[in-house]
Amino acid sequence: MSQDRLRPMMARCRERIEAVLERALPAADAEPQRLHEAMRYAVLGAGKRIRPILAYAAADAVGIPWERVDAAAAAVELIHAYSLVHDDLPAMDDDDLRRGRPTCHKAFDEATAILAGDALQTLAFGLLAEDRHADPDARTRMVAMLAEAAGAPGMVGGQALDLMAEGRQLDLDALKNIHRHKTGALIRAAVNLPALASGSPRPARTAALDHYAQCIGLAFQIQDDLLDVEGDTAVIGKTSGADAAHHKATYPSLLGVDQAHAAARELVDAAATALADFDSGADPLRAIARYIIDRDR
Ligand code: IPE
Ligand code: IPE
Ligand code: MG
Ligand code: MG
Ligand code: MG
Repeated sequence: MSQDRLRPMMARCRERIEAVLERALPAADAEPQRLHEAMRYAVLGAGKRIRPILAYAAADAVGIPWERVDAAAAAVELIHAYSLVHDDLPAMDDDDLRRGRPTCHKAFDEATAILAGDALQTLAFGLLAEDRHADPDARTRMVAMLAEAAGAPGMVGGQALDLMAEGRQLDLDALKNIHRHKTGALIRAAVNLPALASGSPRPARTAALDHYAQCIGLAFQIQDDLLDVEGDTAVIGKTSGADAAHHKATYPSLLGVDQAHAAARELVDAAATALADFDSGADPLRAIARYIIDRDR
């Protein structure tokens, strides 16, 4: 699938997930209004929605209709949105700009941002637990998979390692480990949850999808690191140069910009190879791998 044909597919996914998220979020005029407004602000901004897009593309790859992964796609995006709210807090990356507008704690206040993040996280698990498209056994397994991806063994653990690494010189393996956890884990869940939702995951396909997901998850964060160096604040929607200002461990700081690009390209090639045995149903996943390193935001 060409990048030109990927674009309308991504637009359809975005339209769909916006509606699912809109339905899942509490109404802005219901009490406590300030909390609900902050939750909506954090989720309904100009996100790329790459994780839901991956979930819908993975549904295509395993041959199930999109409606069966709506809950999983929304749950991962809600966890992601919460992770961004907390990532931007003064105690973490201390950022003022996100998705082209003030970060949640700037638009509201720190306490509200912390609580909005907390509530987005529980909303995510509630959606999966109540997913009427999956049988109880599949639901339980999806909840367990997302819990592992979001928590100490996944994203939160990676965030802890990221903060501990500030100002320290890491080797490549240590940096990869941070990226795989803080960013890779949720991307992996987005790709792998649809196989669970299908109710009959085939082991060889599941392993191949997981390998694809691990490759693009790391590539995604390498590109994020590169955009912090090479991107424009107006385009990326967050303040460029923030990683260097915080002495963050990143691919470009460790390897240089050229080698970081090369590492991301190699991962995208490996991701494509992982899908070699899939039919054209996996074409969107193949095209998204390329998009991940070609994107400018
Ligand atoms: C940013 O994620 C944080 C990372 C994990 C790299 P995205 O680049 O997916 O952010 P949005 O959702 O599009 O704003
Ligand atoms: C974020 O990594 C990973 C998360 C779990 C949110 P970054 O700190 O690099 O993400 P940005 O650049 O602020 O979006
Ligand atoms: Mg961070
Ligand atoms: Mg950050
Ligand atoms: Mg970043």
